[in-house]
Amino acid sequence: MRLLVTGGAGFIGANFVHQTLRERPDVEVTVLDALTYAGDRASLAGAAERISFVEGDVADADLVGRLVAGADAVVHFAAESHNDNSLSDPGPFLRTNLLGTYALLEAVRAHDVRYHHISTDEVYGDLELDDPQRFTEATPYNPSSPYSSTKAGSDLLVRAWARSFGVRATISNCSNNYGPYQHVEKFIPRQITNLVDGVRPKLYGAGENVRDWIHVEDHNRAVWAVLERGRLGETYLIGADGELSNKRVVELVLQAFGRPSDDYDHVTDRPGHDLRYAIDSSKLRDELGWRPRYPTFEEGLAATVDWYRAHEGWWRPRKAATEARYAAAGQQVLP
Ligand code: NAD
Ligand code: DAU
Repeated sequence: MRLLVTGGAGFIGANFVHQTLRERPDVEVTVLDALTYAGDRASLAGAAERISFVEGDVADADLVGRLVAGADAVVHFAAESHNDNSLSDPGPFLRTNLLGTYALLEAVRAHDVRYHHISTDEVYGDLELDDPQRFTEATPYNPSSPYSSTKAGSDLLVRAWARSFGVRATISNCSNNYGPYQHVEKFIPRQITNLVDGVRPKLYGAGENVRDWIHVEDHNRAVWAVLERGRLGETYLIGADGELSNKRVVELVLQAFGRPSDDYDHVTDRPGHDLRYAIDSSKLRDELGWRPRYPTFEEGLAATVDWYRAHEGWWRPRKAATEARYAAAGQQVLP
């Protein structure tokens, strides 16, 4: 199989490429990535000789058309992915997430290529802390942020192209990932690298917000299951029953560093901050037999802390600029 992976120099995409090369030596991988601030060729170290790497924009219809013509399938990870950035500057989110998906859909339509669309649980909006329900494939879309609204829009484009033009497409909506190669702007890597630097973790608001954590390798195994065995035109939710409050996550990270569990700062909350995400992944489990392999968040977190400690050379170049961006956006320690 000749597989085009967009966003393969980003967090989930790079892990997907490494996992694919390890587990599926028959797959020929081409990565298309614009190497934005979030992309890094160093995330593909060790894979570079075994893949074709094309630096370019998913919204470049000519380039995308040529690459798709030479592929049997596309897995589309490339996106602007960070909510906080979408609040400071939404423009790149509209361009990459909407126009990039449109360019890919037109290309897979023209060349009749199988397409898998990577999306997020944030398209469903948020849940109350005490709501017994979780998101399912039938939950209405209700996105809150510029990021999640562009992801919701891109999902709807995929559904329309599948129905109207017969594009052979599937969509997966996953919860919060953690693991190696995640940018230091994101919650868990930010706190780990703060602690390496002797800086207190930063918790938005009261820290009661809940996220449903999944290890990136478990996400990517589910992506393969949907790509190979998912029903065309269908959506699959991916989650590992990993609901935790942000405060609890910070306490666990502090524990991994042998620090007191209250040794963190509360900082300015995110405007419009979604309260809780929670995934019911019964469809994926029942239809495709997928199960997460990381049995506990604590184990996955310990491995992730070890990875960041051992790979300072990978994250260090981006740390100061990331913290400067947060400061410029007005993030302050609360009294
Ligand atoms: P990331 O920000 O780490 O990586 C994004 C990658 O896309 C980078 O390599 C970047 O250079 C590339 N890119 C950005 N704009 C591009 C463009 N115009 N053309 C080509 N490449 C471009 O993101 P991530 O966390 O790895 O997320 C990957 C996908 O998974 C996204 O679609 C995101 O919405 C989705 N997702 C993420 C999570 C999560 O927890 N991180 C959960 C569910 C779904
Ligand atoms: O749910 C899936 C989504 O998860 C993906 O679609 C997004 O691409 C991904 O970035 C992630 O979105 P979140 O906004 O949930 O992730 P983030 O890592 O930015 O924040 C996780 C939670 O932690 C959120 O409630 C905000 C909070 N937070 C974040 C940072 C960076 C803090 O409390 N402190 C921080 O320093």
